[in-house]
Amino acid sequence: MQILSSTPPYPLIQYIVHLFRKSCSSRKNEGGTAFTSKVKIFDTTLRDGEQAPGIQLSPESKLIIARALSEVGVDVIEAGFPINSPSEKKAVEMIVKDLNSPEIAVLCRPIKEEIDFCHEILKKAERSRLHLWIATSSIHMKYKLNMSPAKVIDKTIQAIRYASGKFDTIQFSSEDSTRSDLDFLGNIMREATRAGADIVNLADTVGCALPEHMALLVREIRKSVGDKIPVGVHCHNDLNLATANTISSIRAGAKQVDVTVTGIGERAGNTSLEQLSIALLFHQKHFDVDTNIHTEKLGSVCDTVIDEMGLNIGMTQPLIGENAFRHESGIHVHGMLNNPMTYELVDPKILGLLGKRYILGKHTGKAAVKHFLEKKGCELPDMEIDRLTTLIKERSVGSGLLEDENDLVDFAIEKGFDLEPSRRTGNE
Ligand code: KIV
Ligand code: ZN
Repeated sequence: MQILSSTPPYPLIQYIVHLFRKSCSSRKNEGGTAFTSKVKIFDTTLRDGEQAPGIQLSPESKLIIARALSEVGVDVIEAGFPINSPSEKKAVEMIVKDLNSPEIAVLCRPIKEEIDFCHEILKKAERSRLHLWIATSSIHMKYKLNMSPAKVIDKTIQAIRYASGKFDTIQFSSEDSTRSDLDFLGNIMREATRAGADIVNLADTVGCALPEHMALLVREIRKSVGDKIPVGVHCHNDLNLATANTISSIRAGAKQVDVTVTGIGERAGNTSLEQLSIALLFHQKHFDVDTNIHTEKLGSVCDTVIDEMGLNIGMTQPLIGENAFRHESGIHVHGMLNNPMTYELVDPKILGLLGKRYILGKHTGKAAVKHFLEKKGCELPDMEIDRLTTLIKERSVGSGLLEDENDLVDFAIEKGFDLEPSRRTGNE
């Protein structure tokens, strides 16, 4: 895959990340105290991500992605839903065998035989997590589960009691939390923790929540389960709010957040690991939270997932799309050449991505033309730069862009500009 990461010289990139973090926050919050609060990153690329229509990963592909997730520093890998198929079971087994860290989770319904099945698969894991879930909204309980609310609570309690002691951690998620009755949700979460759940998780399954809604939900459920039980969130992106909803949840006290690489997942997907990581990094000073993510490896984990899943990410996809760090317009390029922070929130190297790219087209200004020529050791008088800029604009309408300084020099020579003497001294 061509788009994203270089094979970065990691020590250098780590140093850049270090400087950036220092400039953002000095690793201190606004009150001047060191960051105390870590938010756990629960990655579900291999489960919710793989559920995206049209994506099927072989066990080998899943293992490649799991290794990349471990490298980038996620705290939990949800490796799959093993009851789904023999291939899914095999994938989870391969991941458990291969990785000592991080924690490995599997999705499971509250059914005894399924819990036993998951236990068998996870018992060799260094740290195992059972992710039990059931739907809690009236629409799901009536039309999908065909169960009364009382039955749903009972099933949850029985399953968690049965699973207790078989896994290092039991996570309980309520599907469709954001359309569930708040009192009922508080009740089931409280009962789940009394039965032995170590962490509870609120899913915005249809992606309908707004940031303030998620914050309220997190605060309420924290009251229901008490201080000792972490509350997590799982946000879908149907209104393009997954990252905002996740951040709002963190600010309301969520201690774990679900993400997928590139945001892949059911329908419009989930909160994207890269967007969330960079947002938290950029605003670290205000949030008082930190993660274990090595941001300089985000580009390569995205590359891996894009390759293995065969994804077509859009040109404007935040942070990793083709245009995310590409500039053409004259005013922007001029600003960028003076100080790259004028039009980018972070240096792409923070994500381990290839350096910036300027292209030349209809919106190009003289500064970019001059810069590109200088990169090749060429100079032209101002009036000639003006003329060349005009020709580039004219050309772009029919013939497209000039991608780099080599294209520019070829075009200038084709149009009769005299670049030859200095061209030979250029940095080919
Ligand atoms: O979106 C959802 O509700 C889920 C659950 C399994 C947590 O993915
Ligand atoms: Zn989901």
